[in-house]
This record gives sequence, structure tokens and C-alpha cells, in this order.
Amino acid sequence: MTAKIEIKQVGKVFGEGRHTVEALKDINLTIGDNEFVTFVGASGCGKSTLLRIIGGLEYHTAGEVLVSGEAIYGPGADRAMVFQHYSLYPWLKVMENIKFSRQLKYGRENLTSSDVEKASGRADALLALMGLQAAANAYPNQLSGGMQQRVAIARALMGRPEILLMDEPFGALDAQTREVMHDLILHVHKLEKSTIVFVTHDVEEAIYLGQRVVLMAPRPGRIDTIYDVPLPAERDQDMKHAPEFLALKKEILARIRDTSGMRTDHSMLEQLNMEQADA
Ligand SMILES: Nc1ncnc2c1ncn2[C@@H]1O[C@H](COP(=O)(O)OP(=O)(O)O)[C@@H](O)[C@H]1O
Ligand SMILES: [Mg+2]
Repeated sequence: MTAKIEIKQVGKVFGEGRHTVEALKDINLTIGDNEFVTFVGASGCGKSTLLRIIGGLEYHTAGEVLVSGEAIYGPGADRAMVFQHYSLYPWLKVMENIKFSRQLKYGRENLTSSDVEKASGRADALLALMGLQAAANAYPNQLSGGMQQRVAIARALMGRPEILLMDEPFGALDAQTREVMHDLILHVHKLEKSTIVFVTHDVEEAIYLGQRVVLMAPRPGRIDTIYDVPLPAERDQDMKHAPEFLALKKEILARIRDTSGMRTDHSMLEQLNMEQADA
């Protein structure tokens, strides 16, 4: 495995003095080139923070992060992010949203007409890949949530990023739309040979998409367990009913419950009930 992202002893502390939050502590992980890694874990365990650090939107306070062997300083065209809330420009049509990529914007002065042609070709290809041809001239608010998110993914892919960072991108979609999006993103992963880091709170989604599932735990945010997904590289929806899929899902769900502190809440509740019964 060629390393694409190397996370070494990474820590992140928010705030100062007495009001600090240790969002991440001693994170170590190497993500391979063209790997698809998913992150799950209780809310507040630092998933988004870690993703934002890889994306260069947040800076770690300890350790180092290397992308393609180099330390990162801020965002770069090699990494694109997709969030839960479609960050489309409402005043631009679908095609204009896709073409409005960071790369085109930054390089406008040096852009030749052949670059623009190539970009148009890629935009057309991405529009087709995402099944959006009929929507090219629509405005975002005329589209369903699933279609808006497909536009956001197409736009993220426009600059040929090597790494796609996705933070609960399908969290706002209904179950059927989500299934369609899963197969679409697996197809994108294969076609574009991207490295994908995908955060979700949905364990089934994490297993279906990931080659490895990284389970994080809170307070301080840390990696608890890394699971290899025992499924063939080529996924299909039927695999969700396979015994090994269901067994892994059960194991991860139980571990999230154990690490999230939910158990403690439950036993406290029982104790309270007992005390009330005694009184
Ligand atoms: N900008 C910030 N300032 C202070 N604390 C933050 C900030 N961002 C995140 N945190 C804290 O860091 C921890 C991890 O947050 P986050 O990465 O959003 O977790 P997750 O995405 O797993 O739910 C949480 O305790 C959160 O409150
Ligand atoms: Mg989050």
C-alpha cells in the first residue's frame, strides 16, 4: 500500500486555560492511495475535526499530517470536501455551479482556451456521471436533496482532487436516495481512483462503503478500533444481508455504545430508579 495520508501522533486542543477541549489525542493512521476509509463514532469524538485538519481548514496542535509525503499547510487543490449541507451557489445554474471550481477561479489569469475547453469536457462528463444532464440549466432550489448533493460532488470532482473528504454527506437524504448515492460514490471511487475519507454516524453506510472502518471514541477524541471490512472490493446492496456484514454491524454498534458513555447513563438511571423505590 502506498501511503496517501499519514496522520502521526495528531492532537487538537480547542480553547485556552481552563476552558479547553481535547478534541483529538494521539491519532495515528495511515490511509493508502485509492483507499476508501470510513469513520464512525459517538457525536463529539472529533470526526469532523480530524477531517477538517486533513482538509487544511483547521490546524492540529500536536503531531503531523502528511499528504503524499508532504506536510499540509492549508487547503489545496489535491483535496476536495463535501459536507452534509449542499454548499451550492443558489444564483448559479447546475452547470455553472459545477464549473465554478476553486482551481478555475484561482487560475483564471493563466487560463488558455484549451484549458477552458478541457474543463467544459470534464464538466459535461461529470454531469453525465452524476445523471444530471437533464438538470444542467436548473437552479439548485429546483432540485431534490439527492440531486443537489450530486451537484456538490460533481463540483468537488471538477478539479480532479486526489483526495475526497466527505463529512456526513448523505446525512440529510432519505434511505432510498442514500442507497443510490452509495453506489454512485463507489463508482466514482473506482473511476477516479481517488482516496476517500468518509465520516458518517450510520454504521451500515460505513461498512457498505469502507474498506476499513475507523471507530473513534470521545473525551478525548481518539481512535478506538480499526475494522477491516470482510467484503469483496466490488459491493452490491445484497451484501448488506450477508452474515459477515450483520456480524460486523452488531460488533461496531455495541462498541459505539460502550465507548460513548451511554451505558453509564443507563446504569445511573437504574440507580436513580432504585433510590426512588427505596424512598
Ligand atoms: N471550533 C471549536 N471550538 C471549540 N470546541 C470545538 C470546536 N469544534 C469542535 N469542538 C469540540 O471538539 C469536539 C469534537 O468535535 P467534532 O469534531 O465536531 O466531533 P464529531 O464530528 O465527531 O461530532 C467536541 O467536543 C466539540 O464540541
Ligand atoms: Mg461532525
